[in-house]
Amino acid sequence: MAKGQFSGALVEQLEEKRQGEAMQGNGVANAKAKLLYLESYGCAMNFNDSEIVASILKKEGYEITPVMHDAHLILVNTCSIRERAEQTVRNRLRQFSRIKKNKPGTVIGLLGCMAERLKEKLLEQEKLVDIVVGPDAYRELPKLIDECNGGQKSVNVLLSLEETYADISPVRLGTNGVTAFVSIMRGCDNMCSFCVVPYTRGRERSRNPETIVQEAKDMFDKGFREVTLLGQNVDSYLWFGGGPKKEFEKLTKEEQESSVNFAQLLELVAKVSPDLRIRFSTSHPKDITDDVLYAIKNHKNICNYIHLPMQSGSSPVLKRMNRTYDREWYLSKIDAIKTIIPDCAVSTDIITGFCGETDEDHKNTMGVLDYTQFEFVYQFKYSERPGTLAARQYEDDVPEEIKTQRLNELIKKQSEMSYNSNLKDIGRTFEVLVEGTSKRSEEQLYGRNSQNKVIVFPKADYKPGDYTTVKVTDCTAGTLIGELA
Ligand code: SAH
Ligand code: SF4
Ligand code: F3S
Repeated sequence: MAKGQFSGALVEQLEEKRQGEAMQGNGVANAKAKLLYLESYGCAMNFNDSEIVASILKKEGYEITPVMHDAHLILVNTCSIRERAEQTVRNRLRQFSRIKKNKPGTVIGLLGCMAERLKEKLLEQEKLVDIVVGPDAYRELPKLIDECNGGQKSVNVLLSLEETYADISPVRLGTNGVTAFVSIMRGCDNMCSFCVVPYTRGRERSRNPETIVQEAKDMFDKGFREVTLLGQNVDSYLWFGGGPKKEFEKLTKEEQESSVNFAQLLELVAKVSPDLRIRFSTSHPKDITDDVLYAIKNHKNICNYIHLPMQSGSSPVLKRMNRTYDREWYLSKIDAIKTIIPDCAVSTDIITGFCGETDEDHKNTMGVLDYTQFEFVYQFKYSERPGTLAARQYEDDVPEEIKTQRLNELIKKQSEMSYNSNLKDIGRTFEVLVEGTSKRSEEQLYGRNSQNKVIVFPKADYKPGDYTTVKVTDCTAGTLIGELA
């Protein structure tokens, strides 16, 4: 994903839009404040981490500036998921270096997944940055910046078994004041063979549910009306007092009794207020349970929308990907969703051209699309990541043109599917949470329905944060168009 790259649908939509987004703070800059320019790439979790970083540095007297030339400190929170994401950041770092030439006191810091993956490399070999800080070491930032101001380059890329930043209240950046991200866990214990995340984010650990509920309450009190609970694999959430993930069966009896799983967490957050919508991302087909589906069904404010990455519709490819489910298992999960929550929208992620993928494998993936009719598909060309299982075990043998051709077929199919799905909504009435003014017209507002579809409709007296009811009268492949009902 590019500047602003997200795992998970809600998040992936932002991915393309928020390429290398400069984070904007609220409020007026104090003339004496130290100025921080913070740019973020990658998934929603990474954007939420930037909000944690902003909170840590605000306490140190930093204020966010959207103008990089004014900044005393330039931080770039990075993503390693695909090669292109890293390349974009390297180019950006060269631009930052030029600013530093004119303003030698400027400190440049590399945060996030690239920092974790490359460690000292960008500091020593390419001399592009002054500090390198991995995703679990943000509390150390003030100290590292001080060291750097004292003339020393500094690095902290230690991964943690416990850190969840549970007590830090994120400073909301680039916010619409209506929707916000809340991280519920960190790291990932899965070993999908193509994926760099377990190496850059470390072991999976869950955040204390009390702090999650408290953060959701605070957001609601501040006027927010939707929270998206974030994790690389939210269905695997399990709180039993902290520390690295353990399976429920391995907990002591006391730990089991006081533990909170994802379905239970959803219910706790849903009870904050019936007017607070809850979304979550990302679900893993191997871990999503019927309890989660019933929690969605039983709480109107838990949205009818699941992002369930499939990656491939071919069992042999899934096996090489080490996804630990096969095509039939994935389809059985789709069936369970449609049976328990008939009005649930489902989106997915697909990788084209993974090692050894044949035309037949690709056809099988397209076949699942016909069967499932996803509301949205996020598709990526396989990009080999150094050090991953796939890089070590399999040859990246699908030619670039074939990867692109398969990707384009998917994109075409995806846009037909989205349009057909939107056509079916014409004549239906939805509750919509208003998020802002439409880009096309000041007279129109936009918001989303429970299924995560964007709807544009006449303004009347509504404002962001209001709920309203909209009847769909028309659509494009990307948007529903409606009138107030
Ligand atoms: N934790 C989430 C996904 C995180 S990454 C999950 O398990 O679904 C977001 C998406 O990026 C993945 O779903 C996958 O489709 C894609 N992705 C990850 N590694 C990739 C790689 N090496 N090349 C291409 N796409 C990749
Ligand atoms: Fe990567 Fe797999 Fe973990 Fe998702 S579940 S972050 S794809 S290793
Ligand atoms: Fe997210 Fe990219 Fe890291 S997708 S977890 S920022 S590699």
